[in-house]
Amino acid sequence: MENIAVIGAGTMGNGIAHVFAMNGFKVNLVDISADRLEKALKTIDKNLWRMVAKEKIKETDKEETIENITTHTNITEAIKDADLIIEAASENLDVKLKIFKSLDDHAPENCILASNTSSISITKIASATKRPAKVIGMHFMNPVPVMKLVEVIRGYATDDATTQTIMAVSEKLHKIPTEVNDYPGFVANRILMPMINEAITTLHEGVAGVKEIDTVMKLGMAHPMGPLQLADFIGLDICLSIMRVLQDGFGNPKYAPSPLLVNMVTANKLGRKSGEGFYLYSEESKDLKVAPTFS
Ligand code: NAI
Repeated sequence: MENIAVIGAGTMGNGIAHVFAMNGFKVNLVDISADRLEKALKTIDKNLWRMVAKEKIKETDKEETIENITTHTNITEAIKDADLIIEAASENLDVKLKIFKSLDDHAPENCILASNTSSISITKIASATKRPAKVIGMHFMNPVPVMKLVEVIRGYATDDATTQTIMAVSEKLHKIPTEVNDYPGFVANRILMPMINEAITTLHEGVAGVKEIDTVMKLGMAHPMGPLQLADFIGLDICLSIMRVLQDGFGNPKYAPSPLLVNMVTANKLGRKSGEGFYLYSEESKDLKVAPTFS
């Protein structure tokens, strides 16, 4: 396994390209937007410099990593010699089904097709291809160069050889791959999102304030970040859409999203990316301030 293609050069795609390239793989990074590709290369460069500064890698390693990455806007050209393709495009079922149909039509016959989706069924994605045994979930965590876990998701038809290859490749990236089956939210989000949702309900019912809820979970459970701050970091729209996947997938009322979460997304208070969620975010101040609605 040598040639990797990464589809989508956003937050996750640039991180995935970074770790593969740093571990000696040749990476073709693809996006429909040339602007996104340019930004991705800048982000990778900045993150590699940070690793040089922390003496985690040498400057020559940084240069080799950058040389291993080629950017493309033409997907067919970028995947023609790929051994493994990791799709990290926008979290939208139609977008992913179209991409996988095209990957299946143009990638070499033995190429494995992986998705970094956080909530869409791998079995569903695989149904857009004629090679469902070779379709698998490779769920990296954000930020990819830092986080150790790869949640490896077996779709209904994923075969053992594909799973073993992906477990071995993840280890070559110095990650810890963990195998799970394809059910709504997989393992990571099935457990994380109801916890975040419960924190939002706890706030909504007035049991405690934003800082108090986060402090209990940080200091009491040794979580590096409280659930409300984490929700802001992930994006409240993403949290809501994953709760909807759990609610639709299991049909169990325990997965109903908090009405406060729904309201905040409707009001475009999406967390860090919109400047306000449970906390306020500004360029000028690094101090975490509770948003006016909750203070
Ligand atoms: P993003 O919005 O930052 O990037 C998505 C990129 O895909 C954009 O640059 C967009 O131009 C590109 N794109 C859209 N359609 C395309 C197509 N047809 N061909 C090529 N490129 C296309 O999204 P982000 O956050 O990087 O998420 C990507 C995937 O990773 C999603 O499936 C998401 O659920 C998953 N994920 C996200 C995490 C996060 O913390 N952001 C964590 C784990 C998984």
